[in-house]
Amino acid sequence: MEMTEMKEKDVVILAIESSCDETAASVVRNGREVLSNVISSQIDLHTLFGGVVPELASRKHIEKINQVIDRALSDASMTLDDITAVGVTYGPGLVGALLVGVAEAKAIAFAKNLPLIGVHHIEGHICANFIEHPELEPPFLCLIVSGGHTHLVMMKDYGEFEIIGRTRDDAAGEAFDKVARAIGLGYPGGPKIDKAAKEGDPHAITFPKARIEGSPYDFSFSGLKSAVLNYLNHARMMGEEVNPNDLAASFQNAVVEALVSKAMLAAKEYKVDKLVLAGGVASNSALREGMAQACAKRGYKLYFPSPIYCTDNAAMIGSAAYYEYQKGARGGWDLNAVPNLKLGER
Ligand code: KG4
Ligand code: ZN
Repeated sequence: MEMTEMKEKDVVILAIESSCDETAASVVRNGREVLSNVISSQIDLHTLFGGVVPELASRKHIEKINQVIDRALSDASMTLDDITAVGVTYGPGLVGALLVGVAEAKAIAFAKNLPLIGVHHIEGHICANFIEHPELEPPFLCLIVSGGHTHLVMMKDYGEFEIIGRTRDDAAGEAFDKVARAIGLGYPGGPKIDKAAKEGDPHAITFPKARIEGSPYDFSFSGLKSAVLNYLNHARMMGEEVNPNDLAASFQNAVVEALVSKAMLAAKEYKVDKLVLAGGVASNSALREGMAQACAKRGYKLYFPSPIYCTDNAAMIGSAAYYEYQKGARGGWDLNAVPNLKLGER
């Protein structure tokens, strides 16, 4: 009964993520069980410059990656001999940063004669939801909101995606970071605005809503960002005091309203009753609350990951790699970093 044995065998993925400013490795069993999740953040380094410096990120990844992988294996009480396949983010992201993870994954896979699986970073963010929600299965509608991406995606099946909306300019997280810098809250701005907004009035200032002709599910945040900057400049010129908490709360409210209303519109049009949040901004308390209320009102089920799985991590890559592995996806030794990789492309 060799076939049965093969089928019953656990698939243990060593996953690596290095697309931006987090060096991360994780061991994931059968796509949903995280045996270890190690993240070495570079936030302290980049905070000195007010944002991610790509060259510094690459160098830091090189310094950290072996330690992070060793730690992920030891936390899982495993060695490379226990690993079934190596999964790695190969795009989108910073090319130099991605290359560190891809080269490392190829080296390990080659040395240990293991299958190599290239993972799309956004697919990883979506799959982060499988870790803590064992009952969650596609199809569902996913709102991915991170520092680099703002997408509405239908996940039709494992590994099958249809992008139905995206940002035309800034990503939601990018808008949070830029507005935080303008208010003087520092980097990374998202969590700081989230905190300041708790002390402010979300209706203190009304910001204009972006309307995109012919694309009901697309987003635009650069106009909102400019409106915040104009508001600040105007107040400064007039010598008026600005309450940073009110400003943070009103800006956040405008972002959340845009995200929630378009997600609801898409859910109705695509006839889904399961919604999923993903990406760094999915940690935002107002977004979680706004989505929860809108979903409850319509009888939709809402899922989102714990904050540790919202931000960049390798466990989500291990989950996505498992489903790609099950579908037979294998990367060759020519697997390369693809900084502008599109979802659903190979
Ligand atoms: O997914 P992520 O860690 O990295 C990318 O793939 O981009 O997302 C990082 C982004 C940053 O822009 C950060 O400011 C934002 O997520 N973020 C938040 C919160 N926590 C992180 N934005 C709003 N509220 C939060 N609580
Ligand atoms: Zn990310």
